[in-house]
Amino acid sequence: MTLLKIALMGHPVLLTRAAPVADPREPDLRRLAEAMIATMLDADGAGLAAPQVHVSRRLIVACAPERDAPLVLANPELEPFADPAEDGWEGCLSIPGLRGVVPRAPRLRYRGQDLDGKLVTGEAEGFFARVLQHEVDHLDGVLYPMRMSDLGRLTFLSEMKHAAEKP
Ligand code: NI
Repeated sequence: MTLLKIALMGHPVLLTRAAPVADPREPDLRRLAEAMIATMLDADGAGLAAPQVHVSRRLIVACAPERDAPLVLANPELEPFADPAEDGWEGCLSIPGLRGVVPRAPRLRYRGQDLDGKLVTGEAEGFFARVLQHEVDHLDGVLYPMRMSDLGRLTFLSEMKHAAEKP
């Protein structure tokens, strides 16, 4: 299985709004999704968006709880429930070595298309909901530090042990 090169923060593809997928059934898209899953798992990521592998199209993959295979969604759309946002730690394969605290909706409905072109819908909460919001942000050219309310809580992973000591 091919592993794809991951774009790092600073590459313009990560700041670009990705184009919709016209036909999720195209064979190239299935190959891309399979390679994205392999790349995500190899890098110990919880999700990956196509722009992160230099493909500016609206496709994401994400590890989903209680599912054998990662979730693949073309043209994903999210509809958060009306809960207050919750802070949580996030990392990103395009920003290696860093973690930051990001406010996200704790529960949401998602919809999109699978690679057979069928409508996929579901509900997500907690970390899975966070991952979906993070990945869909990638499709809109948004990186998690741009969502942080306190950049003082952006930290190198190697310094995370100090996170609780923040003044
Ligand atoms: Ni990311």
